[in-house]
This record gives sequence, C-alpha cells and structure tokens, in this order.
Amino acid sequence: MAATKLTRSQQIQQTILYPIDWLEERSGIVGGIKYFLFRKVPGDTNWFQTLGAATLTAFIVQALTGTILAMYYKPDPNGAYSSIQHITNDLFAGWLVRGMHRWGASVFIILMFMHMGRVFLFGAYKYPRELNWIIGVLLLTMGLGEGFTGYLLPWDQTSYWATVVGININGTAPFLGPFLAQFLQGGTYINADTLSRFYAIHMLLIPGAIFALIGLHLYLVVRLGVTSPPWSKEAAGKGPITNGKVTTGRRGLSRFGTRGRR
Ligand code: HEM
Repeated sequence: MAATKLTRSQQIQQTILYPIDWLEERSGIVGGIKYFLFRKVPGDTNWFQTLGAATLTAFIVQALTGTILAMYYKPDPNGAYSSIQHITNDLFAGWLVRGMHRWGASVFIILMFMHMGRVFLFGAYKYPRELNWIIGVLLLTMGLGEGFTGYLLPWDQTSYWATVVGININGTAPFLGPFLAQFLQGGTYINADTLSRFYAIHMLLIPGAIFALIGLHLYLVVRLGVTSPPWSKEAAGKGPITNGKVTTGRRGLSRFGTRGRR
C-alpha cells in the first residue's frame, strides 16, 4: 500500500516538476524568479517598504479591470456615454468592474505618492539609486497622464469640461504649450478625434510605457538592493540587530546594498 502511495506521489511530483524543469532548462526563468523572491534584504526592512508592492498591485488591478472595460467601451462621441451606461447597468458585475477601475485610479495615485514619500524620507533616492528615483518620477507623470486621459472617456458634461480646462492649462505652458494642446485635441477644439486619441493614449501608449518602466524600476531594485530604514543600527554599523528571526546581515546584500544611506 505504502509503496503504491509513494509511487503515486512521486508520479504527481514528476508531473508537476516536469514542465517547470523544461522551462528552466530552456530559459533560466525559474531560477530568475527564485532569485527575485528569495534574495536577501536588510533584516530590519520595514512595513513602509511594502508600499511599492502595493502600488504595483494597484496598477495590475487597473490593467485587468481596464482590459475588461475596453471589451465593451465604444470610443466614439455617439456611443461612448451609452456604452458606459450599458456597462454600469446591464452587464453582469459591470458596475463593480467600472467602480474598481474608477476608484482604483485614485488608489493607484495615492499609493504612488505614499511610496514616493517613503523613498524620500528614508533617503533612498541617494546614490546609487538616483536613476531609480528618476524612473519613479516618470512613472508618477505617466500615472497622472492616465488619470487625465481616462477622465474624458465617459464623454459626459463633467468629463468634457474638465478636459477643456486641462487642455487649456497645458496650452499655457511656454513654447511647447500650444503644440501640446493641439496634439491632445487632435485639432483646434475638442472633437471626435480627441476622444479616440485620448483612448489610444489611455489604453495603449501610457500603460505600455508604465509596464516597461516598472520592469526597469524593479530590475534596479533587485540590482541595487533595498535601503535600510534611517533608524537602522545595522546600517549605521552599530552592531547586529537583535531580532532572532533575521536571516541576513549587511554582508549578504548586493555590492550597493549599504550605500544608499550613510
Ligand atoms: C507605478 C509606480 C511604482 C511602482 C509599481 C513602484 C514599485 C516599487 C517597488 C516594488 C519597490 C521595492 C519595494 C519598496 O521600496 O517599496 C520600489 C522601490 C523604489 N522606488 Fe518605486 N514604484 C513606483 C513609483 C515610484 C515613484 C513615483 C518613485 C519616486 C519618484 C519611486 C522611487 C523608488 C526608489 C528610489 C526605490 C528604491 C527604494 C529602496 O531602495 O529602498 N518609485 N518601487
């Protein structure tokens, strides 16, 4: 009995492991994911350092709910508003998906600001992480751009006039302002082309750029290591931390792990 059981469990194990081994042998991706998940971080890593992952989660929720909405939304002036009404009132859980996307947009922006505040207060923008801060600033700009372009899509009075104000503000920027305003409008005033332009920017251009920048951002987080909190005794070189569960000291970190803070 026991022998049969063992063989079965071995068989099951093999069935599960075979595709994983297959993938690893041909791409090394499993090793890469393991390295990412089990890499060493400072022992006194703080809850505030989960804000980046929370921001990432909010972005993924936006991408998923946005994809569902895009299956039903019609980006033309005659159909946009009624397609939104249809999503909200007629489709199964449409109100939920739309609500998650609408409120999730604010959550995403708020989390981004909180994460940026954490990075600033921990001094994590200093050498050698300046480039990651710059990438973060680009991500913030793109996130705000998503909010701006998404606001027009319901094509109701509020979204129309808010966009008029937004475009006029952009138009007052020195030198580039008028060109930017004309580019955003797709003409000299808001028209049907403005809607499809905003839609393309909102669901293709900016999300694509955000995906690429997040990839770069996380690559640098892994490469440079995570910064210790400002109050870290360990980072200040005043002896090891006392928490027994800590598995690593500074020496276990990447070459740059200790340099973000003095
Ligand atoms: C889509 C938006 C963003 C995502 C998904 C994201 C994600 C992350 C994650 C997961 C981490 C590692 C964990 C952590 O420190 O919380 C991180 C670290 C970092 N982020 Fe972001 N981030 C975003 C926006 C920003 C912004 C707006 C800034 C600043 C302007 C920024 C600057 C940094 C820096 C400098 C680090 C390294 C921190 C350290 O080593 O302690 N990020 N980010």
